[in-house]
Amino acid sequence: MKRIRFFVSVLMCAAFVFSLTATGFAAADGDITLAFNEDGRFKIAVFADCQDVYPANGAMLAFMGDVLDEEQPDLVVFLGDNTVAGQANDSIAELIAPVDSRGVPFTFVFGNHDTQDSDVSPERTKANHLAQYRKSAYCMAYNVDDSLHGYANHNLVVMSSDGTKPAFDLFFLDSGMYSVCPEGSCYDCVHADQIAWFNEASDEVDAEAGGAVPALAFQHIIPKQIYDAIYPAAPYSDSSAFKRFADGTCFSLVPTASKYRGFVNELPCPSYYDYGEWDAFSARGNVLGVVTGHDHVNNFTATYKGVDFIQTSAMTFHSYGNNIVRGARIIELDEKDPWNYSTYNVTVRELAVKDKELASMIDDSFIYPFLNFIMKFYAVFDKITHLF
Ligand SMILES: [Fe+2]
Repeated sequence: MKRIRFFVSVLMCAAFVFSLTATGFAAADGDITLAFNEDGRFKIAVFADCQDVYPANGAMLAFMGDVLDEEQPDLVVFLGDNTVAGQANDSIAELIAPVDSRGVPFTFVFGNHDTQDSDVSPERTKANHLAQYRKSAYCMAYNVDDSLHGYANHNLVVMSSDGTKPAFDLFFLDSGMYSVCPEGSCYDCVHADQIAWFNEASDEVDAEAGGAVPALAFQHIIPKQIYDAIYPAAPYSDSSAFKRFADGTCFSLVPTASKYRGFVNELPCPSYYDYGEWDAFSARGNVLGVVTGHDHVNNFTATYKGVDFIQTSAMTFHSYGNNIVRGARIIELDEKDPWNYSTYNVTVRELAVKDKELASMIDDSFIYPFLNFIMKFYAVFDKITHLF
């Protein structure tokens, strides 16, 4: 009897080890295919501006884990300014650990701070960062073309649930770091060669699918068209009291509330320049929205020329932010209705109500036990009212 038990135990252990290695080999071989699930859904979690040093803030990592457990995304996108310090190798390993340990496919774009404090050129630093991310078997990022502006420009196709054709396209663009503008230094943006590549890549995917495939674009810095979209034109253009751009447009500094949904807690910081990205997306008609970070306390959606702004607030506890908007953005795609999407923000405040350990790691933690009590009280009250 003991021998039979031993034999069964050995078989079970072997099966367990095989199941682990089978998954690992599949991923390590780059054999990850993104596809709509059997129920026709595909969920993306966006982590913007994690912007941390080494060692990373424990609350941010705990929150990241909670988002992954709560939302069960099919893909995670790190939206730039993922790390900020010279110890990038350790920072990146820490940053991706919650995703890697759960076996969730992920990708990333670069922000303006990622190569900060590096002794070598931004290009070499970015190449080194990509290599660090790709140590995880679940990293899907790659650099499509060395000659393009920026680094790690790439696209990922989400296949139909039956695996027969491309059903959705995801573009990841490096919006650069800094540029020279009349006021001195300003932020950079997506350049014309990247836009040309976007069109070529879209052509290829459309040809494979036999028709236009909807898409989302992900980049760190918001395009200047956010001002055209939600800010009134300034009465005159020769004052520094207004926001001015290279194309001659000039805007007042208070957004029109009816033109966006969510929070605009700071002035958006796009580039002074524009190389036609928004017009290209609008003209082609396949890009539903552009997902951006960079402005830590802004979290909103707005529409301009048929393309949506999907602005995502920061995850960071290291840099500025607040617990009203600090969180992750979730984007849900539906295979039956691929030309529409839904999106919402999961805040650290919401998850701290459910996770006492996370609450204890947050500065204003005293409020979360109170909120937890209120929610429990409400749940009991709700049950009682349903009795009648
Ligand atoms: Fe940034």
